[in-house]
Amino acid sequence: MTEASPGAAAPPVRVPSVSPALVAVPTRAVAPAGWEPEPAWSAPVQVQRAADLLVGRHLVVLTGAGLSTDSGIPDYRGPGARPRSPMTFAEFVSGPVARRRYWARSHVGWGRMRQADPNAGHRAVARLGADLVITQNVDGLHERAGTDPLVALHGRISEVVCLSCRTLTSRADLHERLTALNPGYFEAHADAAVNPDGDVELDDTDGFVVPDCEVCGGILKPHVVFFGENVEAPVVARCFAAVDALSPADGAVLVAGSSLAVMSGLRFVRRAARAGVPVVIVNRGWTRGDALADVRVQGGVADVLTTVADARR
Ligand SMILES: NC(=O)c1ccc[n+]([C@@H]2O[C@H](COP(=O)([O-])OP(=O)(O)OC[C@H]3O[C@@H](n4cnc5c(N)ncnc54)[C@H](O)[C@@H]3O)[C@@H](O)[C@H]2O)c1
Ligand SMILES: [Zn+2]
Repeated sequence: MTEASPGAAAPPVRVPSVSPALVAVPTRAVAPAGWEPEPAWSAPVQVQRAADLLVGRHLVVLTGAGLSTDSGIPDYRGPGARPRSPMTFAEFVSGPVARRRYWARSHVGWGRMRQADPNAGHRAVARLGADLVITQNVDGLHERAGTDPLVALHGRISEVVCLSCRTLTSRADLHERLTALNPGYFEAHADAAVNPDGDVELDDTDGFVVPDCEVCGGILKPHVVFFGENVEAPVVARCFAAVDALSPADGAVLVAGSSLAVMSGLRFVRRAARAGVPVVIVNRGWTRGDALADVRVQGGVADVLTTVADARR
């Protein structure tokens, strides 16, 4: 059955239960006007300070979109990023028009995103020997670089979930279904500009046919956390447990390539800082956690993380 077909009403949407204490309010923040990095943050000695601090410590790593820019996937808030508003969960479930727009753009975007390969930054993260790597990215590139253990905090764009029966299916399979239902669409729009999260700039989405769940007829959604949704409670609990297991004497948190503008990631950094666990932030540009960092490095993640990974070997 497709959304274009008349017939039985779709089954109800079931949202996974979340513990109120763990609900992530997806607040967003931006750099203060005129923000400039401290000149000292860019110095080579700062990279060495980060490496020295991180040697021999248990480590929890939090990564963001800045890890994947070298793989050709744009970020949200880096220099030159165009302001945009990703579709919220409420919009997505508001009706077939919004979903047609989402899936049409995402069909083209994913066809391009899945061609990206891990870069030196992903490979360095895999070599850090961290107790846990938490990524806010949905692109699957840490997995492909062999990072383990890994939590994909906001899910994976390569998976699809049914909002009614919660069955998980592969995006590659859905891509085939979408291609069969919309012949020629991908090719016709293959040069549309790519947005950060597997979306593209595209307005011609009327008539795009969106399939429903093959098990129950429910609404299909990429298995990623949209703005307005919550990360599932057990996932959040696992991340907090890893941070809580760190001690100020021999643990540290390393943030790489994230503005920390989204509370969903920032809360782990706050928790570590409150417990006195050292925090290192490697990012080009402002982050919402700068005041929490013991060492702040303004630099490219691939180079800096390679130095840190070499130091920890
Ligand atoms: N690749 C992806 O899967 C992807 C891409 C964009 C957004 N998202 C989603 O959107 C949210 C965005 O939050 P975020 O904090 O991850 O991204 P963000 O765009 O807010 O921040 C990325 C930061 O990385 C910096 N940066 C970019 N390239 C860098 C490099 N090579 N070296 C060092 N720094 C670099 C940018 O200046 C920016 O400050 C995430 O929660 C994620 O779910 C995912
Ligand atoms: Zn279903």
